[in-house]
Amino acid sequence: MTVSRIAVIGGDGIGPEVIEQAIRVSDAALRKHGGRVDWNRLPWSGEWYKKTGMMMPADGWEILKGHDCVLLGAIGHPDVPDHITLHGLLLPMRRKFDQYLNYRPAYLYAGVPCPLCDHDPVTGAVLAKKPGAIDMVVYRENTEGEYAPIGGRLYQGMPHELAVQANVFTRRGCDRIMRAAFEAARKRRKKVTSITKSNAQQFGMVLWDEVFADVSKEYPDIQAGSLLVDAAAMDFVRRPESFDVVVASNLFGDILTDLSAIITGSMGMAASANINPERIFPSMFEPVHGSAPDIAGKGIANPLAAILSAGLMLDFLGHVAAADAMREAVAKLLKGGKGLPPDLGGTAKTEEVGAAVAAIV
Ligand code: NAD
Ligand code: IPM
Ligand code: MN
Repeated sequence: MTVSRIAVIGGDGIGPEVIEQAIRVSDAALRKHGGRVDWNRLPWSGEWYKKTGMMMPADGWEILKGHDCVLLGAIGHPDVPDHITLHGLLLPMRRKFDQYLNYRPAYLYAGVPCPLCDHDPVTGAVLAKKPGAIDMVVYRENTEGEYAPIGGRLYQGMPHELAVQANVFTRRGCDRIMRAAFEAARKRRKKVTSITKSNAQQFGMVLWDEVFADVSKEYPDIQAGSLLVDAAAMDFVRRPESFDVVVASNLFGDILTDLSAIITGSMGMAASANINPERIFPSMFEPVHGSAPDIAGKGIANPLAAILSAGLMLDFLGHVAAADAMREAVAKLLKGGKGLPPDLGGTAKTEEVGAAVAAIV
């Protein structure tokens, strides 16, 4: 049996708390359904930076390359600026390992309270959204766009100080994420919505639109549409069931996936995969949420986003039965309505939620 090697970067705040539960559930699923992975826990984090002045050792990228995948909790420390921690590890990893496909599903599970509701068209009565009513996947471009580290600052501290942050859009970068979105739509409800802002950003976003028009011609079987990002934010709330596959730039995809997370229950439920589809470099799996300093150390973080992210990783590694079992176990726990964490209206601790999912899996 091949044993996959996983680099585990728990990181900061609730990161290590939720990641330990993801490992626990993965091990339980693999024990039951076959397969094995080796977990290599690395201490790299904001906390480690405080001790060493580095986010990773000098040969850190080489160390990571010796693994099949990276499982990451969250990076972000109250004592260290985000532009040091995140620009020293998470954001360069997505670029260095060409993890251009950021896959972020959002699904309304049975038993999860949804902050949105519907109205009966005749009586006006308030209707709860049905399980599965929201079922979308966001394909976020993950290596360029608004996150390109290109720009500079001039006249620092002076009244005429200036900062320039360039947006970088390439035909290749747009093409490959859009193609992936269309391919995914073929296996789903055959609809792709592109998120744009070409009414205001006349260079990068116009190229984005043109590439979307070109790629969509190759997929005549898929319903292709485009929405301005501001209107899309409204429709995520007004009619989230209208979305199937959404393809978005780096920044728009980031913002919209906090929204897709909360309309399907909580930040604590949203999983994410940073994929290098060519498998030349390790792919990285992490919850959408951050280190949540407001609840860190209390043992109350919801570990389901991390567990579901680890499930995406096992699926990517070919441990399909174990991955399916993890998702089904999460769905079962939620449907039962007992033993849920505080963000879902319960009182269960992080560790208790992990143990409950591991027992079902
Ligand atoms: P956050 O996602 O950490 O928290 C936002 C809100 O959601 C908070 O109220 C938090 O308590 C809640 N929340 C998040 N995850 C939860 C969970 N699993 N269970 C229950 N509640 C949860 O976002 P933030 O507060 O804007 O950022 C905090 C730090 O994390 C910052 O340093 C930020 O840069 C960093 N960050 C890192 C990542 C990452 O490493 N991938 C992602 C987002 C933010
Ligand atoms: C995410 C996070 C990161 C991002 C931050 C921490 C840089 O918000 O993964 O959603 O913006 O990509
Ligand atoms: Mn984000």
